[in-house]
Amino acid sequence: MSLDRSNEAPGPVIHRYFTYAVVAHALAAAEEIGIIDSIQTNGHIDVCASQYTNGHSYILETLRLAGIVTQTSEASRYVPGPHFDDAASYAAFFTWLFSASGTMLINARSIIAGLRDPSSTPRDGALVARSSATFGRHHLDPTILNLPEWQDARHVADLGCGDGSRLIAIARKYRLCGIGIDISSDAVRVARRHVDDQGMTSSLKVAEGDVRSLETGQSRFRPVDTVFLALMGHDLWPRENCIRVLASWKRIFPRCRRLIVCETVRNSSRLRTVDELRIPTLGYEYLHAVMGQYIPTTEEWLAVFENSGWSCVKVTTVEVPANTQIFVCERGN
Ligand SMILES: C[S@@+](CC[C@H](N)C(=O)[O-])C[C@H]1O[C@@H](n2cnc3c(N)ncnc32)[C@H](O)[C@@H]1O
Repeated sequence: MSLDRSNEAPGPVIHRYFTYAVVAHALAAAEEIGIIDSIQTNGHIDVCASQYTNGHSYILETLRLAGIVTQTSEASRYVPGPHFDDAASYAAFFTWLFSASGTMLINARSIIAGLRDPSSTPRDGALVARSSATFGRHHLDPTILNLPEWQDARHVADLGCGDGSRLIAIARKYRLCGIGIDISSDAVRVARRHVDDQGMTSSLKVAEGDVRSLETGQSRFRPVDTVFLALMGHDLWPRENCIRVLASWKRIFPRCRRLIVCETVRNSSRLRTVDELRIPTLGYEYLHAVMGQYIPTTEEWLAVFENSGWSCVKVTTVEVPANTQIFVCERGN
């Protein structure tokens, strides 16, 4: 006799996954609409103020259940909870996945079925740039900004520069000139505004362009001695394309001596359960799989450097984002 289990309640784990997904969405929304920032700046948020709606209250209620905020004796006031600092430093990863890349998740069915081209439902370019810069500032920049390689650099090209904030920070710290290039007109607009706001227009330029097909012989690329890219290397794949592009940069930036690639690579250890995963591994690989984009491993990166005439002389592992490497390469023959 077979039992009909269709009316049985699912076990507690599946209830938890559903609820965690809602907490994840609430954290993304709280980061995006400034609730996290506001609590960080003022030490609290008061949802009785007129600009707040029932939506704000429920986001905070969800964060309260997750221990990210707590409610004071004034019921409308929320202050940091035991997990607030952790949540604040990682919140931009949630914005990046659920808000900036939300169109891909919503359209996963039709993209995977080949009924929709991911480029017809683009991600929010300005939000991808802003959220990457925010989690980068918390977790990547302490390593990137202290790389000894910047000390003998004079002119940097930041390819896929996003909102330009890292290019600004590097240029300011090491007194460098530079050019940022990004394919997203939204990211370029934000990056130009940041450069302008920081009074750095004489040393930094930002241009819109596809770094896979830059033209040779451009005078603005001639002084570049260091090419840098962060969190966009996978956009150069498939492999043969990546080799062609990396090789072309030796002609496009004729004086470039060094290539620095910071990239989150494919997880290569065999995992057994979701509990073994760290941010952003599953979200990062899942999202790119939906978009039909390949995420290379460390070994695949080392092979393309060798095949494109760049010799990798140093690899530094960053703990967050998980599986992130900084490859320092020098110009080969
Ligand atoms: C994840 S964001 C990283 C931004 C920035 N490098 C950072 O670390 O904060 C990737 C950036 O690369 C840009 N990008 C992707 N493919 C590109 C291409 N082919 N040419 C230029 N920019 C590209 C995107 O528009 C986006 O701003």
